[in-house]
Amino acid sequence: MPEPTISLSREQIHSFHEDGFLVLNAITTQEEVEQLREIYDRLFFERTGWDQGSQFDLAGTDEDDQPRLPQLLGPSRFAPELKDTLYLANARAIALQLLGSDMLDRNGEHMIYKPPRIGAATPWHQDQAYHNPELAYKGVNFWMPLDDATVESGCLQFIPGSHKLDVLPHHSINRDPRIHGLEVDNPEQYAERAVPCPVAAGGASLHACYMLHYAEPNHTDVPRRAYTLTFRTPPQNRDKPVDAYWQKNKQTARQTRADAYQTRGSM
Ligand code: NI
Repeated sequence: MPEPTISLSREQIHSFHEDGFLVLNAITTQEEVEQLREIYDRLFFERTGWDQGSQFDLAGTDEDDQPRLPQLLGPSRFAPELKDTLYLANARAIALQLLGSDMLDRNGEHMIYKPPRIGAATPWHQDQAYHNPELAYKGVNFWMPLDDATVESGCLQFIPGSHKLDVLPHHSINRDPRIHGLEVDNPEQYAERAVPCPVAAGGASLHACYMLHYAEPNHTDVPRRAYTLTFRTPPQNRDKPVDAYWQKNKQTARQTRADAYQTRGSM
């Protein structure tokens, strides 16, 4: 693992805790961005992890030939060289500054690809709406694009301060429980307070794990490849669980593939 090359100033740390997000101009080198693009393209071109349910269309039912928002969970399981990046070293060092010494060693990771012209919107949501409603979390997500991400190509947009909210009611995209992706209820109210955060390739936007965020469809002719790393402290039991009723009626093709893969593995 390379040595970290950057750290946050006190102002940046303060601003992250106040607003819930932060933009960094560079979190790795352009050389590493080049290397990551090759790995990234291979993983999506080959639909790596599809049979395991680890790759799927975040915004569709997996019936389309051309997914409009493909996501790959745990990419370093398929490309172990991802465990040795400067991006990871820098993100880990910064996360430690933001979360403190009880941060867990093990981090999460995923990739979301927004293809040129057809890439779908990522609707307003909180990542915590996907997670265990019996637990309370403290965490930070790093979102690094491998292409210059603009509003038009689908950079992330945030609602300052919304990371201080608890989990809001969500529903499946298009209210279709076959779709993995979630959208917060009444999303229209957020658009006018949104702060878009364009980021150059190899830069990153960071957000706290309860932050409301959104990204436009990719209206451009260039891909929007993004690679996310997540860090957190040990989750705490809640006195009263969140009523995450939107998780209960999910019936995704991704989960069916994951279950079938598990069953085959245990036979
Ligand atoms: Ni998200």
